[in-house]
Amino acid sequence: MADNSLNPKLTPLKWILGSWKGDGEGGYPGSKDKDPLHFLYTEMLTFSAPNSAKPVIAYDQKTISRDGTKKMHAECGFYRVTGDDGQIEANIAQSTGIAEVQKGSVKDDGKTLLLESTVVANAEKVKAIHRSLKYDAANDQLVILTSMEASGHPMTQHLSTVLKRV
Ligand code: HEM
Repeated sequence: MADNSLNPKLTPLKWILGSWKGDGEGGYPGSKDKDPLHFLYTEMLTFSAPNSAKPVIAYDQKTISRDGTKKMHAECGFYRVTGDDGQIEANIAQSTGIAEVQKGSVKDDGKTLLLESTVVANAEKVKAIHRSLKYDAANDQLVILTSMEASGHPMTQHLSTVLKRV
């Protein structure tokens, strides 16, 4: 029989569970040999908690170009509640080969998960990644901002997406 119960430690993250789809915009500063980046995409992602015995959420994401013709980035991993103090750890594998460990927590508003990388492995250009996932309850939307310290630039936003539950 299906186990539909939620591990109690996941209650603070209940708002993130489900499948989401939305439009995003990406960019990054240029340099003297490179123009600033700008691109548009559509993102689909799922957060699911298939096993109530453990406080673990499975994460699966993919992006396509906004005109729908081209597959872009994809990533997957696990978000875990690691202790009794609300600490959250995410392990994310990117389609580019980068492996990330992120740590953080849900902020006092109860609807914003802020994560900062403690490990960015197998990355040539990327030194650190910050992720913010904010639930806009009034509109049942998820707003995700991703910043990175890369290619000699300080922490700068690379991606922003607004997703609706599907
Ligand atoms: C470029 C990292 C997610 C699309 C880049 C660059 C880096 C990077 C380091 C080169 C920047 C430069 O030197 O100017 C990352 C990381 C990601 C991520 C760490 C996740 C945390 C995404 C996603 C998309 C995307 C989700 C698509 C929706 C692009 C594009 C470029 C780019 C189109 C420019 C062309 C290219 O280098 O492929 N990214 N990226 N990235 N990224 Fe991302």
